[in-house]
Amino acid sequence: MKKLIIANWKSNKTREEVVQWMDEFGEAMRVSQATRTMRTDVVICPPMPSLMFVSNRLLDRQLFAGVALGVQDLSPFAAGSYTGAVSTRNLEGFDVRYSIVGHSERRRYFHETAQDIANKVEQCLEAGITPIVCVDQEQIEDQAAALDPKHFAKLVVAYEPVEHIGTGVAQEVSEVLTMMTRLRAAFPESRVIYGGSVNPENLENFSSQSEIEGFLVGTASLSAADFYEMIQELSV
Ligand code: PGA
Repeated sequence: MKKLIIANWKSNKTREEVVQWMDEFGEAMRVSQATRTMRTDVVICPPMPSLMFVSNRLLDRQLFAGVALGVQDLSPFAAGSYTGAVSTRNLEGFDVRYSIVGHSERRRYFHETAQDIANKVEQCLEAGITPIVCVDQEQIEDQAAALDPKHFAKLVVAYEPVEHIGTGVAQEVSEVLTMMTRLRAAFPESRVIYGGSVNPENLENFSSQSEIEGFLVGTASLSAADFYEMIQELSV
């Protein structure tokens, strides 16, 4: 089964830096086209103001076959009077395939609850967008209980231990595997992935484990070269 790798740039990068990243990534993809076929599902989640630009770039399907567009968050409400929120209707026409929901930074700094996140999942699924639901240990069962079980098969669930996010030190593989088992029990049929300081140096430890079906990558995805290297590692 193909692994999934998701780039989450969070609120980093100027417009110019996004252009540079896409140029560099595109060039790496162009050079490698002849020698390999993509065996990884790739998602790029840029900051909202760069969505149109990245979406337009990804229209080059020859170059970016297997690369999908995602958003880092979206509104828990349908289109309407919600100043500052981005609804699924706003995203129409950009070919957004995924949305991260319930990232620990959203839970922590924006006080999102399991129910807010469940509402976002509903918005996603109504619009045909795959939700990437992030949970840490203590949220697994509560988050699962807030969701409609009939949706489980349509979700990606990312296990994200907060103390390993942005630190450069990933969690031990054995601990991640234990949590994958717990995720599978709580979210039957969801695609389960890991996130927390995954980088080109430590990816191999995780990618050889079939139980870990993909990766949510923050810091290491800020470099096009590093992100591309990780895709290659997953494609061998
Ligand atoms: P990190 O971020 O790779 O920088 O640890 C991961 C995440 O926040 O999903």
